[in-house]
Amino acid sequence: STIHLKDYLPPAFLIDQVELDVDLHLENTRVVSRLHLRRNPQRPEPGLPLELHGQELTLHSIQVNGAPFSDYQLTESGITLHHLPDQAVLETQVEISPAQNTALEGLYISGGHFCTQCEAEGFRRITYYLDRPDVLARFRTRISADAARYPVLLSNGNLIEQGQLEGGRHFVCWEDPFPKPAYLFALVGGQLHAVKDQFTTLSGRKVALELWVEEENLHKGQHALTSLKKAMQWDETVYGREYDLDIYMIVAVNDFNMGAMENKGLNIFNSACVLADPKSATDRAFHRVESVVAHEYFHNWSGNRVTCRDWFQLSLKEGFTVFRDQQFSADQHSAAVERIQNVALLRTAQFAEDAGPTAHPVRPESYIEINNFYTLTIYEKGAEIVRMLAELLGWPTFRRGSDLYFERFDGQAVTIEDFVACMAEVSGQDLSQFMRWYHQAGTPQLRVERHYDPAARTFTLTLHQQTPPTPGQSDKQPLLIPVKLGLLDAQGQDLPLILKGEALGDETVIHLREASQSWVFEQLDAAPLPSLLRGFSAPVKLDYPRTDAELALQLTQDSDGFNRWEAGQKLALNAIDALIQQQQQGQDLQLHPSLVSAFAALLQDHQDPMMLAELLQLPSEAYIAEQYACVDIDAIHIARDYARKMLATRFYDAFLALYQRFDLQAPWSAEPEQLAARQLKNTCLAYLVATESEAAFTLAQQQFEQADNMTDQLAALTALAHAEDPAQGQAALRAFEQRWQQDALVMDSWFSVQVTRPYADALDRLHQLKTHPAFSMKNPNKVRALLGAFCQQNPSRFHRRDGAGYAALADAVIELNQLNPQIAARLVLPLTRHQRMDDHRKAQMKAELQRIQDQPLSPDVYEVVSKALAS
Ligand code: ARG
Ligand code: ZN
Repeated sequence: STIHLKDYLPPAFLIDQVELDVDLHLENTRVVSRLHLRRNPQRPEPGLPLELHGQELTLHSIQVNGAPFSDYQLTESGITLHHLPDQAVLETQVEISPAQNTALEGLYISGGHFCTQCEAEGFRRITYYLDRPDVLARFRTRISADAARYPVLLSNGNLIEQGQLEGGRHFVCWEDPFPKPAYLFALVGGQLHAVKDQFTTLSGRKVALELWVEEENLHKGQHALTSLKKAMQWDETVYGREYDLDIYMIVAVNDFNMGAMENKGLNIFNSACVLADPKSATDRAFHRVESVVAHEYFHNWSGNRVTCRDWFQLSLKEGFTVFRDQQFSADQHSAAVERIQNVALLRTAQFAEDAGPTAHPVRPESYIEINNFYTLTIYEKGAEIVRMLAELLGWPTFRRGSDLYFERFDGQAVTIEDFVACMAEVSGQDLSQFMRWYHQAGTPQLRVERHYDPAARTFTLTLHQQTPPTPGQSDKQPLLIPVKLGLLDAQGQDLPLILKGEALGDETVIHLREASQSWVFEQLDAAPLPSLLRGFSAPVKLDYPRTDAELALQLTQDSDGFNRWEAGQKLALNAIDALIQQQQQGQDLQLHPSLVSAFAALLQDHQDPMMLAELLQLPSEAYIAEQYACVDIDAIHIARDYARKMLATRFYDAFLALYQRFDLQAPWSAEPEQLAARQLKNTCLAYLVATESEAAFTLAQQQFEQADNMTDQLAALTALAHAEDPAQGQAALRAFEQRWQQDALVMDSWFSVQVTRPYADALDRLHQLKTHPAFSMKNPNKVRALLGAFCQQNPSRFHRRDGAGYAALADAVIELNQLNPQIAARLVLPLTRHQRMDDHRKAQMKAELQRIQDQPLSPDVYEVVSKALAS
């Protein structure tokens, strides 16, 4: 059944206070809940029943104001209670079975510990409740459990009481003073150990910080706590937001559907996003931990203090919080490199989503299963929209809007309109056209025309915008698109910008509002080269033809780091496109000289090694595929591989020299210089090994053996294991497995490396590895590491012509549909991207989708697969 935004109604009752009593047992946990209810003044209709959500609950008893109550019906989605007084204390007793819970929503077991995941609608699997974000209540939670097996019992807020019980059991009481929706509830019970720290807020309050992990992971906890303190301080300095409880806890669990969860005062994290030490975690993993810890922390304001009225508003908290975590990361590291990496993700994964059958607006109109809407569109495109707002208003005004939003709506559940209205109010800007960004799905396309008039010394820039239709949305209106730009002279220097007699400096933001619009820049002695969409100022596709010479100028000279990279990507795309066409016309392959000269120029300048490592990266096969209306998957793979090998051979000596220059021979540290050096060195190693030369393999082998950190070790392992000759990687893979078999997170990488081999044997490996003792279909990280990596990071093997890649995915989806519908519905997505494939593959993909559709399906998988089959 489909839920529609237009049907939103406030609830018939409100809940002021919740008293929960959770008696933990693996198979039969008893939950007693006392809800202090009152009728909602916003729903004056007399005698409305109370409809509580409940799922997989065994009901034992119901009492109202202390007396047994029988005027209720059990429904498909919960329970309906009739003729309640206007105020009531409703007590229910239910039983649930955490041990049987493989969906990892509600209360479940991970690694022998009890834990919860309630967002979006998991609380209804714990007790009967108004499980919707616009019902905010104060929670008091009493947990009891076996004292020996579950010595640590945690919930939101402050610990107020604890004690021993008979039969070797004990109890703990927690009280959260902040009213919150049920999706922010959390509970943990287990044999956990804490790394502890402390933070003093701007106003001088001391906050205890606790990171709870399994004993063997204690040494992997420091980085998360350091990151947390940085995030707490950053939010004070940049957004004026302080933490509000006396304690902030994070718990690491191994079985988790997503990255992490911002439960009030008690975050629960996928261990992959919180544990890190240099021996076992790559620099990328360190970065991920820092950014996810910050993200969840920032939710304390953007999400918890001010929350969402309903789940259609999900991007209200996620888009804003992703924007905040991106700003934070940009302040900790290279802002340009951060932007490049965020945009690379957006332009591959989010643009593909926006062009496929599951495309949806950042604020959707309807859904079947809300878990399917924790998407790149809601998160990443949502963050881009907030970024554009900040750009349109300017930071000081945006910050005033943010202050107003937090102040006005503190303790409330609000909408995206409420957020944008604050921005309109403080800026005096009319943002009604801007709101279309939230309502229209699809990626806008910008077409660029330029005209120089030497007599008038004017340069006319014309921009045309158009958004292609998406499922259910055929007509699109023009958007307000901020285009940041500069004009370059023949040396690549920024020219002064003069528009209608007004001097605007070196860089400005023009606002495209119409379908087509022109700007006339004045007093220009020669045709300038526009540097458009600097910093990727709007999430659009830019159709901007430039000559190789112009791209090369931008690549080396543009003052905007993002556009330097973008010019390089464009040069590479052009060269790869030529190789694709050569294949299609049966010609011998020849790499376009402009890409070769671009690399020659890049390799001479290593002032900024972190940036250089990015600039040397060829566009991914997924991004190359994004450029085509009909995707030739094999030709893309061959073309990219050919370009990579030709560049590697041509510049072998330069890559080797750079490798040696940046092989620092110093013990590991997280200093920026070292991070950059490792990044560049390992980029060079990948090129060196692409030549398949003995010398390069020896170098990789040495690095593999001598590395004192996971970044270098894994880079070397990948280089060896991705050699054409599978024998090259065998010994290293075995050694790595021996060394790391006890470390689940490292074994994830070991699985991924093998199934991302770009050769025919990758699928056989996948089938073998499914029976490896470290693999489990019940663990989402393992599913992502093996099946997710194969389907998403090895496109040429996933799309094998014989369809065996599709069949493997469909088999896994069918199995997971029973175990964990949420993960199944995510895993299936690559199979839904059949629109631009050739007819042969399209038919095979649809046949596998149909095979899935013929099963009894969870709503999660049903929603995704039926949309894909309808398109
Ligand atoms: N709110 C979490 C975050 O972005 C994501 C949790 C989503 N979980 C889910 N099962 N849909 O930080
Ligand atoms: Zn979030």
